[in-house]
Amino acid sequence: MTDLHSDRILILDFGSQYTQLIARRVRELGVYCEILPWDADPAKVGAFGAKGVILSGGPESVTEAGSPRAPEIVWSLGVPVLGICYGLQTMTAQLGGTVEVGTTREFGYAEIRARGHSALLRDIQDRANAEGHGLLDVWMSHGDRVTQLPPGFKVIASTADVPIAGIADEERRYYGLQFHPEVTHTTQGRAVYSRFVHDICGCGQAWTAANVIEDAVERVRAQVGERKVLLGLSGGVDSSVVAALLHRAIGDQLTCVFVDHGLLRLHEGDQVMQALGENLGVRIVRVNAAPRFLGALAGVDDPEAKRKIIGKLFIEVFEAEAQKLEDVAFLAQGTIYPDVIESAGAATGKAHVIKSHHNVGGLPTHMKLKLVEPLRELFKDEVRRIGTELGLPKTLVHRHPFPGPGLGVRILGAVTQQAADTLRHADAIFIEELRRAGWYEKTSQAFAVFLPVKSVGVTGDGRRYAPVIALRAVETVDFMTARWAHLPYELLDVCSRRIVNEVSGVSRVVYDISGKPPATIEWE
Ligand code: XMP
Repeated sequence: MTDLHSDRILILDFGSQYTQLIARRVRELGVYCEILPWDADPAKVGAFGAKGVILSGGPESVTEAGSPRAPEIVWSLGVPVLGICYGLQTMTAQLGGTVEVGTTREFGYAEIRARGHSALLRDIQDRANAEGHGLLDVWMSHGDRVTQLPPGFKVIASTADVPIAGIADEERRYYGLQFHPEVTHTTQGRAVYSRFVHDICGCGQAWTAANVIEDAVERVRAQVGERKVLLGLSGGVDSSVVAALLHRAIGDQLTCVFVDHGLLRLHEGDQVMQALGENLGVRIVRVNAAPRFLGALAGVDDPEAKRKIIGKLFIEVFEAEAQKLEDVAFLAQGTIYPDVIESAGAATGKAHVIKSHHNVGGLPTHMKLKLVEPLRELFKDEVRRIGTELGLPKTLVHRHPFPGPGLGVRILGAVTQQAADTLRHADAIFIEELRRAGWYEKTSQAFAVFLPVKSVGVTGDGRRYAPVIALRAVETVDFMTARWAHLPYELLDVCSRRIVNEVSGVSRVVYDISGKPPATIEWE
């Protein structure tokens, strides 16, 4: 079988918010890559076996003493190097050129002119000017600029304001770009990365969903042998894809435990059972623990206390089920690559993204289970692609994230069965209408919240004094910051009317127009 890891690119991270995007672009081009921090052990950088190195952007200034530098070993690997923004600047500084603090910051759209017929940009253009020079629409975000080329380099791109917006030493195959080809605003960005990884570094395109599955299947089989594996299935994308993948690899050696805590979305449990259990034949133990959870939550209104109760009980229920299974040797988890990068970042003090909260936390240590983490190398979009390839329905694979404590943190204050039923119903209407209007894909997370305040409503001849439902929809990339989605009034109108008419016990519907910050995405 093709070795999908042999053609590999190393990305050295200088702290740019776009570093993971670079990695995703490279992967989309069918090439395996990993991200290491700029100060990674040089021995590790050397041993990585990269066919090319990309130096990311970063928030610092190379003009400042002690600012980050690429490990010197990068220049002796004999492979092509591409520096992006800060990466270009540190390359310049390290190889004998000059970088100066700019008088103005250049941020946003820019038109660059490709020059000097470089191997990197040749024939890549959005249009040409009257003299036949290629012009590209790109995205810039920088303050410092290169003012003097390092020896051996030529200029390959410039803008009206920045004479040196791209550099190349074709002999050593070192390239630097001041703009960000990884963002979609740079329309030819994909072509630029393809040129670098395929043509300049000579990487093939082995990294495809089908190959990734085949490789993961083989690795899981080799790791697990004839032994048994346990998986906590939450219904979320990651654990569902792990289930489908492990089922493909080891069939009935996998048992999933799906704890239904009664705070799931409408029909969520049945959908999971159908998609994975009935359609794919995955062995799933479904535990209907709703009464236990609601009992434990009775009268508790503090959000953190609710989270603790749900988390603790979840583990208890999961463990009790796990104990009933015999000879389990492995515990499977849906850890994905951003979690891995983040833990590495946290260890070195360079944290990246928000920690994704896991339902299944400190698990049966006394069972001495070894971990199986078949998604450890994958980004979320790759997890979705292989999920689809494995036969999971699009609605499951592209589902918005859902917090572990579920509706427990979307019912403000004390959780009751009635509030959960009301909220579930209102939420389902909201999501159905979003999907119908084509807005589900445009939003990153959307849901209803149950507000235990009472407001007056009039239905027919009667007045009622009932709870309020708030709708929330946000657009975000990393869930650290978010913009409230500007949903069309017509859509909000349909949702509001349907919810008040179809869900008993709701007097009015409001829409949350708070961004994050200062608000959080969830209400609790
Ligand atoms: P906030 O509300 O902090 O949410 O802006 C950011 C993201 O985290 C999710 N979230 C949780 N996920 N357990 C989870 O598994 C939790 O307790 C929890 N609280 C928030 C939230 O849904 C959003 O995607």
